[in-house]
Amino acid sequence: MKCKVCPSYMEKLYSFYSPFYDHVFGHLLSPGRRQSFKYLKQRPHQKILEVGVGPGSTLEFYPPQTELVGIDISAPMIQKAREKAAKLNSGSKFEFHVMDAANLEFPDNNFDVVMAAYVITTVQDPHRVCREMLRVAKPGGQIIVVNHTRGQNGNYWNRLEDLMAPIFVRIGFTTDLDVIKVMEDSGIKVEKAIRCNLLNTGRIILGTKD
Ligand SMILES: C[S@@+](CC[C@H](N)C(=O)[O-])C[C@H]1O[C@@H](n2cnc3c(N)ncnc32)[C@H](O)[C@@H]1O
Repeated sequence: MKCKVCPSYMEKLYSFYSPFYDHVFGHLLSPGRRQSFKYLKQRPHQKILEVGVGPGSTLEFYPPQTELVGIDISAPMIQKAREKAAKLNSGSKFEFHVMDAANLEFPDNNFDVVMAAYVITTVQDPHRVCREMLRVAKPGGQIIVVNHTRGQNGNYWNRLEDLMAPIFVRIGFTTDLDVIKVMEDSGIKVEKAIRCNLLNTGRIILGTKD
């Protein structure tokens, strides 16, 4: 049985984290986030959606002339992202909205790239969020997810991930979710998963919309 994530708890928790998130999780999760941008196809004026943008820890990595739309369920996180974007002089256009990733208020086939860093394990219905990400991506568009994903071997480490889930969910994410399988089950074509972060606990998961 998967550990349950409560959306209102997550919204309150991440709003509480917002003033110091970058100083704690921001740095800890930085290698995977930074490395994932190596796989971003560079096209001028491409429209990118970042789901669960948080305080804007990725904004500095977007190439010039990107048109980025960032959404997050937490209003204080969105406020932080706006403040960070205002200080950047990267030539990109940024726009932010408070929005639930499970109900993206965008038309179908709208974005060249959809990005989600460390978000899928913080949402109540990860399949629905992945389906929404797929829906708003253009055909042929990239879907880049950076996340911890539960292993599939059924070994001691995987059992530990299951055991630790109720503890980690209180901190803000679950550890018992096989994110790669969720993406595949949701219709995202997963092309590659690259190990990242401390002890290789994270994955950069590269997907596309057929
Ligand atoms: C672990 S943080 C990741 C933040 C950022 N992407 C990063 O790279 O560090 C998870 C973020 O997802 C947001 N979040 C959680 N549930 C969400 C939902 N249902 N819809 C949109 N954002 C959500 C949280 O508010 C938080 O900012």
